[in-house]
Amino acid sequence: MGILDNKVVVITGGASGIGLATTKLFLAEGAHVHILDRESNGFTAVLDELKGTNVTGHHADVTDRAAVDSAIAATVTAHGTIDVVICNAGISGEVAPLVDYPAEVFERVLKVHVMGAFNTLQSALPHVPDGASIIITSSITGLVGPPMVSGYSTAKHAQVGMMRSLAAELAPRGIRVNTVNPGPVDNGFQDHIETRVTGLDAAGANSVFNEMIPLGRHITVDEVAQSMLFLAGPHSTGITSTTFRVDGGMGG
Ligand SMILES: NC(=O)c1ccc[n+]([C@@H]2O[C@H](COP(=O)([O-])OP(=O)(O)OC[C@H]3O[C@@H](n4cnc5c(N)ncnc54)[C@H](O)[C@@H]3O)[C@@H](O)[C@H]2O)c1
Repeated sequence: MGILDNKVVVITGGASGIGLATTKLFLAEGAHVHILDRESNGFTAVLDELKGTNVTGHHADVTDRAAVDSAIAATVTAHGTIDVVICNAGISGEVAPLVDYPAEVFERVLKVHVMGAFNTLQSALPHVPDGASIIITSSITGLVGPPMVSGYSTAKHAQVGMMRSLAAELAPRGIRVNTVNPGPVDNGFQDHIETRVTGLDAAGANSVFNEMIPLGRHITVDEVAQSMLFLAGPHSTGITSTTFRVDGGMGG
């Protein structure tokens, strides 16, 4: 018996990092997982690697509403319902003071995180039963505002607002809506941010950031995936409208 036996899960950005670790954990716990991700060689390789499991995949840019609708329709055709939706696709954007931040990058970062989550949720919600679980991957940067990442921080704060409104709307149906707010994760996504912020190589930048994390280290993708499992599954039925920090204490 798995914690998510026969649950149908849609996850955006599931072809890499946190999303891929969550996909693998959920598959091991008995779920059917439908990944939405952009067209990339990595996605095809992931689907090949997971062939024979209960995973399906759909190339879709979350900012493209028609593509999201078609991916959600494929899930519903296959399974008839969606029990868990995880809006996880993300990009880091620019590292620059706001005054120099390129407007087109700012707009794209908001579009991927905010409109991407909106598109996914508006498309999926008509197929979500009472008692379902919705999770948005925000960030510690959605709760505090570090310098040089105003686009990312604005987008991640906006996701928290979306989560809170939706949690209030869906609570009467027992549908729970939460954000997971990871701190710095030991993966390429975060290395790319840290090397630009510090001007150091990845190892040097990681050491600088480790000093800012009370646990003294980066979080792993598997630790974030375990939090996703908790919020998706039956052990968190009293939890909604929460910003669930997985940040080694960085948020204070
Ligand atoms: N890595 C960290 O330290 C960290 C910390 C806090 C929050 N997060 C958030 O976690 C989420 C996952 O990040 P990750 O660390 O696994 O990075 P990642 O780059 O490994 O994964 C992000 C995934 O999102 C996909 N994606 C990006 N833009 C997309 C789009 N427009 N349409 C569809 N898919 C798209 C990518 O192809 C990729 O598979 C993101 O929302 C990120 O902001 C990451």
